[in-house]
Amino acid sequence: MSFAEQLRADLAAAPMTLAALMTRASAHYYATRDPLGAAGDFTTASEISQMFGELTGAWLADRWRAAGAPAGARLVELGPGRGTLMSDIRRAAPAAGWQPRVAFVETSPVLRAAQAAAHPDATWFDALEAVPDDGPLFLVANEFFDALPVRQLVRTPTGWRERMVATAGERLVFAAGSIDAAPLVPPPLAAAPVGSTVELCPAGTAIAAEIGARLRAHGGAALIVDYGYAGPATGDTLQAVRGHAYVDPLDQSGEADLTCHVDFAALAAAAGVRALGPVGQGAFLRALGIAARAERLKSRATAAQAAAIDAAVARLTDGEAMGELFRVMALVPGGDAPGFE
Ligand SMILES: C[S@@+](CC[C@H](N)C(=O)[O-])C[C@H]1O[C@@H](n2cnc3c(N)ncnc32)[C@H](O)[C@@H]1O
Repeated sequence: MSFAEQLRADLAAAPMTLAALMTRASAHYYATRDPLGAAGDFTTASEISQMFGELTGAWLADRWRAAGAPAGARLVELGPGRGTLMSDIRRAAPAAGWQPRVAFVETSPVLRAAQAAAHPDATWFDALEAVPDDGPLFLVANEFFDALPVRQLVRTPTGWRERMVATAGERLVFAAGSIDAAPLVPPPLAAAPVGSTVELCPAGTAIAAEIGARLRAHGGAALIVDYGYAGPATGDTLQAVRGHAYVDPLDQSGEADLTCHVDFAALAAAAGVRALGPVGQGAFLRALGIAARAERLKSRATAAQAAAIDAAVARLTDGEAMGELFRVMALVPGGDAPGFE
């Protein structure tokens, strides 16, 4: 039985929450393909230009130096894709005198293989809790939290209900759960009008809490980049992307990238350490010197390469491209950090 057939059969037997569907669909999606790049479903900042990772690497190395250059510090990436971001980060780290111990949190065997080709010395874990908690933590997560399962609570005429997925013939459809979901709604949103949707990401807040606990215990810094907002807020942000186009989230379960926008305020609250931002990715990269980095790269580039570098800067930083939609938040146990002034 194919994944889609099994999913339909299970849903016909009993509806499941949207979060349960996302868990299952995303696990199948990432386990069975490399979705990145022009031939895949989507492209990330890391794949657009080396400048994104180099500036991120410079930021992490700066935080490592500010922490007293601890020898045993771990560099952890959540959801490393092809390992491209880490390659660019690692190019920047030795300039600061840092030879980090690299750990990847990754569940996809296909992407683990791609990461291993670029980082044979790294170690892999299924979850952050499994990474040894033995010293300062320097962590980066780009487009990781948006891939985690989300619970949607919808205000119906009869009260708050969890959004479920069921079948109608051959099709998957949304349905309302039967249990009163009002106790799950954040108090500031309790009076939202009928039709409102509230999203909760328990998997994301659990990981943020783990990051915060480790930063409090041993020091370090974390950088989280994603599309998102600072809640609490209402809104249905569920989206599915396949072949660089939006598709119906239920039409191609397991074959499309299923994501929700990230509530940065919820992550910061769960982490319980000082949070900087979120600021726009454009402002962050400009503050870290993307213009000067682009000029240096262009000084030894052909005309075509120089044009590609300019295009990449625009794509990463312009408000109409990724510069505003994507936000950057730092978790730091104390003090300030570059890029958030
Ligand atoms: C959108 S890709 C991120 C790409 C990468 N960070 C970059 O900058 O190009 C999402 C990544 O998170 C991984 N992932 C998704 N869900 C996960 C989970 N629950 N636990 C660990 N990794 C997960 C995917 O396999 C993939 O590597």
